[in-house]
Amino acid sequence: MPSDVSVVILAAGKGTRMRSPLPKVLHPLCGRPLVAWVVDQALALDPARVVLVVGHGAEAVEAAVRPQVEGAGGVEFTAVRQEPQNGTGHALQVCIPALAGAGRVVVLYGDMPLMRPTSLTALLEAQSQVGAGGAALLTAWPDEARGFGRILRDGDEDFVGIVEQKDCSEEELAIGEVNLGVYAFPGAALLDALPRLSNDNAQGEYYLTDVLGMLVAAENPVATVELEDADEGLGINTIEQLSDARWALQMRIHEEHMANGVYIEDPSSTYIDHGVTIGTGTHVLPCTVIRSGVTIGEGCEVGPFTHLRVGTVLKNGAEVGNFTECKQSTVGEGSKAKHLSYLGDAQIGARTNIGAGTIFANYDGVHKHKTTVGDGAFVGSGTILVGPNNIPDGATTGAGAVVTRSADVGPNETWVGMPARRHQKKSAPEGAE
Ligand code: UD1
Ligand code: CA
Repeated sequence: MPSDVSVVILAAGKGTRMRSPLPKVLHPLCGRPLVAWVVDQALALDPARVVLVVGHGAEAVEAAVRPQVEGAGGVEFTAVRQEPQNGTGHALQVCIPALAGAGRVVVLYGDMPLMRPTSLTALLEAQSQVGAGGAALLTAWPDEARGFGRILRDGDEDFVGIVEQKDCSEEELAIGEVNLGVYAFPGAALLDALPRLSNDNAQGEYYLTDVLGMLVAAENPVATVELEDADEGLGINTIEQLSDARWALQMRIHEEHMANGVYIEDPSSTYIDHGVTIGTGTHVLPCTVIRSGVTIGEGCEVGPFTHLRVGTVLKNGAEVGNFTECKQSTVGEGSKAKHLSYLGDAQIGARTNIGAGTIFANYDGVHKHKTTVGDGAFVGSGTILVGPNNIPDGATTGAGAVVTRSADVGPNETWVGMPARRHQKKSAPEGAE
């Protein structure tokens, strides 16, 4: 059965308080833009369509989101421009054509990365329970209610509406239960209410929150779902909040890897982006940074003080550590690069040792060049391998060798010196014992 859920992601806001030229929702968070986390939330609901409201940095934001939604397969994607931004209600008004015929509409904020799918399923569940004309919204009791819309309830504790902070009376300001701005609406009732919003309020904006009051006035029930963990409702408005969210997401990423049998010895000093695969039995030592697009096999050792960048592949049992950086490189099964090395555009075979201080000099200032190292090779300490190059199976380089580009190193040969040359073993002098 096709899903009846449409998700609207609000991402038109300016993000002035970030004090950054980058559109707010494109700030990086564990290896992907902030909004990508929200797109994941949307896709977890298995929606029929995703509507993205863009304004500030519209083209860049749309370009970041479209492939992620379309990549999910079978989800219709529409980006709608909201110009100028006259409030959350206005943001939904501009979506009216894109939402034609929508069954249920879930509204998410593009700057709220910590919301868990379970909270959104609970929201949809609550909406189904109140019946076809009713809605549901997420609320929380944060330590600090300032800035949020407050939840109004009647004598029976039933929800009656939301009042924005700037429109609050003294008593309303004292209310500790707040609106997070995340809703599940019945599509028809939402589309009916939106054109009737007014901007007669303290901010002269069209408030989406007023739709809930309108539903209640029309005797449609509205359910509230209180977040157990108010932190899920964290909206990013400042760089400091971005950093708080990064920490929270980092701990979730670590927990997932640890549940898969990866031992992260010191989670607090380890950075692992979204989009990293790590096999069981791998040990990650402190002060290690693993960026998106890295694949690590089983039983590997990574760190301490190691930087693995995009395109790094560590095969089973490989060990990389102690001030080693890798980018676009493969380290073969059981091979080691354990000290002070740079591996760039390197393809290293199995059981090979990359000595301390080895540099794959892959960049000539204009182009990047690949260097391959075969199986069972031994690269001596302080070797510089100027790419492109090939160190075949069983070959050795001496300490401090500088192997100039495309040197003709043969299998099992030893190369030494600067620039490195084939090492001829001297025959014993005559008369020597
Ligand atoms: C809104 C709610 C408030 C709630 C708060 C939670 C309204 C009227 N108020 O506050 O009750 O406590 O969220 O954070 O809805 N956006 C647009 N276009 C606009 C305005 C906003 O796309 O014209 C987007 C922003 O980019 C952001 C989200 O909507 O992602 C929320 O906007 P923000 O201004 O932070 O919320 P408020 O309206 O102040
Ligand atoms: Ca606002």
